[in-house]
Amino acid sequence: MAIERTLSIIKPDATRRNLTGQINAHFEEAGLRIVAQRRLKLTPEQAKGFYAVHSERAFFNDLCEFMCSGPVVVQVLEGEGAVAKNREVMGATNPANADEGTIRKAFGESIEANSVHGSDSAENAAIEIGFFFSQCDIVG
Ligand code: CMP
Repeated sequence: MAIERTLSIIKPDATRRNLTGQINAHFEEAGLRIVAQRRLKLTPEQAKGFYAVHSERAFFNDLCEFMCSGPVVVQVLEGEGAVAKNREVMGATNPANADEGTIRKAFGESIEANSVHGSDSAENAAIEIGFFFSQCDIVG
């Protein structure tokens, strides 16, 4: 399988509980390499821009407000089949449905406060990585 890159966000519920290192350990144990990482506080405009694809969904405003409620850590993860592998490591969107051993099972509080975001396709990964990082920020 090809080496890919995917965009990951450690969400405000997780940074609030000081879980960045424990979450990063899940990625590294799964063979994903953190090749770029930055901690920031999203502005409402950034959150709305990033989640624009969900703008018609009932949960959009709450999601954007939540994503601005504290620091996030944006990351580029690299590895074989990184998009699918990261989705495996994260677990189901709703922590109540997430498998044992996944990040969302271990740390997720609710479908909104589910600790991590990960790109859902290679195509979206390229778009989402470009939202936060320039080429020279990513050191493979
Ligand atoms: P994420 O991978 O960041 O992509 C969109 C987010 O919307 C999702 O994770 C959830 O945290 C959040 N969300 C809130 N409510 C819902 C819902 N009912 N269905 C799907 N996603 C939801």
